[in-house]
Amino acid sequence: MVEISTSILNVEKDQATKIFYGLEVAHTDYFHIDVMDGKFVPKDTTELMKDYTNTVKQISNIPIDVHLMVEDVKGFIDEYAGFNPNIITFHVEATKSKEEVKELIDYIKSQGIKVGLSVKPNTKIEEIYEFLPYIHLCLVMTVEPGLGGQKLIPETLEKVSILKKYIDENNIDIDIEVDGGIKPENIEDAKNAGANIFVVGTAIVNSDNMEETIEVLRK
Ligand code: DX5
Ligand code: ZN
Repeated sequence: MVEISTSILNVEKDQATKIFYGLEVAHTDYFHIDVMDGKFVPKDTTELMKDYTNTVKQISNIPIDVHLMVEDVKGFIDEYAGFNPNIITFHVEATKSKEEVKELIDYIKSQGIKVGLSVKPNTKIEEIYEFLPYIHLCLVMTVEPGLGGQKLIPETLEKVSILKKYIDENNIDIDIEVDGGIKPENIEDAKNAGANIFVVGTAIVNSDNMEETIEVLRK
């Protein structure tokens, strides 16, 4: 099933409530929360995302999909677990050892939250194979993390194909999410590569009709 997770990273503050309500009406499948700490990536969105997540929770029951682009993964799990998100995804590049990855996976799961593991464009997908049986989602970044509104890097979709083939051959039941530069013109390529959850930011929030855009993206 195709699911759309709308990134609210680039929503303007004075428009936030209106846009979030519009996304509820437009039936986004998830609100995608991009938490950046100013260390793992240059930008710091910690205060803004906390504020936005609070607002979203007041307006909507639509599931929250948290994408942690941070070094202190555990600290931010503690912060976001309180919002009762559907899923928390962290970056394998933010960890120091395989043991740490396993500990973080267990830590998220122990709080009744699904776990996602993410790879940046230059990280080999094979690096996370050993964790796949223990997680719910793999987030393949299709741009360098850090900013909305970038162009999709086509080579990253090859990684999606490799991962899709691997999980099918090994009977692993896992969602494949892609994030960065996804829009109506290229979503088909990402779908054909094997992704089933699509993070879309600017292509939805900057469109004139969010409901129509989400409908087009879902087809
Ligand atoms: C990038 C973020 C993305 C991004 C999506 O670091 O993880 O979620 O903001 O925005 P668009 O769709 O505009 O690339
Ligand atoms: Zn994201």
